[in-house]
Amino acid sequence: MFNKCHTDYRALIVGAETKIPLHDGQRVTSINFDNAATTPPFLSVLQSVVDFAPWYSSIHRGTGYKSQYSSKIYEESRDVVRAFIRADSSNTVIFVKNTTEAINKLSYRLYHRNKHCVILSTYMEHHSNDLPWRNKFNTDYIKVDDNGRLLMRDLEKKLRKYRNEVSLVAVTGASNVTGYKNPIYDVAELAHKYGTKVMVDAAQLAGHSCLDMKSDGSRRHIDYIAFSAHKMYAPFGTGVLIGPEKSFAKGEPEYRGGGTIDIVTHDLIKWAVPPHKDEAGTPNIMGVVALSEAIKTLNSIGMANLEAYEESLTEYALLGLGTVPGIRLYCDNDTRDRVGIIPFNIEGLSHRIVAEALSAESGIAVRSGCFCSQPYVQRLLQIPRNEIRRRMKDPSLPRPGMVRLSFGLYNNYDEIDVLVQKLCEISENKEAYISRYEIRDERYL
Ligand code: ALA
Repeated sequence: MFNKCHTDYRALIVGAETKIPLHDGQRVTSINFDNAATTPPFLSVLQSVVDFAPWYSSIHRGTGYKSQYSSKIYEESRDVVRAFIRADSSNTVIFVKNTTEAINKLSYRLYHRNKHCVILSTYMEHHSNDLPWRNKFNTDYIKVDDNGRLLMRDLEKKLRKYRNEVSLVAVTGASNVTGYKNPIYDVAELAHKYGTKVMVDAAQLAGHSCLDMKSDGSRRHIDYIAFSAHKMYAPFGTGVLIGPEKSFAKGEPEYRGGGTIDIVTHDLIKWAVPPHKDEAGTPNIMGVVALSEAIKTLNSIGMANLEAYEESLTEYALLGLGTVPGIRLYCDNDTRDRVGIIPFNIEGLSHRIVAEALSAESGIAVRSGCFCSQPYVQRLLQIPRNEIRRRMKDPSLPRPGMVRLSFGLYNNYDEIDVLVQKLCEISENKEAYISRYEIRDERYL
């Protein structure tokens, strides 16, 4: 059932076989289970940046051959992105730094248009799809069930409650904590039924799953999508915001400066047309070249193949983790509607001890803590509100959190075996690990 070898995918990655030192001086091949934070580059991506370097020049600002060539490549990359998510040409592709910047940009644009409306976010968002809305709009949050999955009936309840006031439903495509994929097309259909629009934070989705914006005329069309290249094997500082060109034609950009205007005098401004109005300063062409190449490589693998492989990794890991004494998972066992992310704790041990021991003694990188999604993690850990208030007043109190595994296409079953074996050892020798890493943090486990 589990195909033991995916050397083809592994060979696509820079650094998959890097040897790193352990705390005892031994060197081992690093194991990276922290792909939700960022992914290593594809070899093809690195090569594309090197190949492009001799042609590098300013975008939209020069008459030289290289400048024109660079500008052409940059503009053509917008079509590569549109094709990747099957967006109609009526949608503009704005290159930004990352998903966080994309969502902030959209929040400013909607704010200038309508300050007195409601944004529906959810209980399961990354801070980047929560905080940008809070200081500008009335923000409410769609609830999750006891397993942490989005409650569609609460979405409908809130759409009814706020009726015509909802300007946007801002929902993650896949959670960076539990890996759950949300039913984004159902969300879109429901939102459109109530006359509102949908923005999908696709940071955790774009590099792991088929993503389809769908035709503008479809009731299941996604109105806005944001994602980051550094989570899809192109870590060169680019992200994307896509949405209807007409919605960016109106209003003012939040950053102003070079590239954003058509005509300016000391008392008049005529803004440039989208997407240029929203790309202040010299564009990051190297990042865009890298993103285009990553998309080509992902397409050549086939997103459906990649999705199936990562699903089988997740299934294998869930089976293995089930054998670790005292483990507590903060997600269900369903591997459908899921990207390869698993959050857990070991009873009686701080998440930090587990994460540090995995790194220092086995060369396994994971992330531990709240993953920039504190409200969701607090909900999953069932931390009472007064505990959170206590921690706000007293920073010396231990930090709540979990350990998170997040897979990329180059991970394999052998690496999961190494992890499971180490977790069993840690769990069976708790006292030794507590004294070795000197953190006593049981309160939140
Ligand atoms: N949002 C990224 C993560 O989940 C950084 O780790």
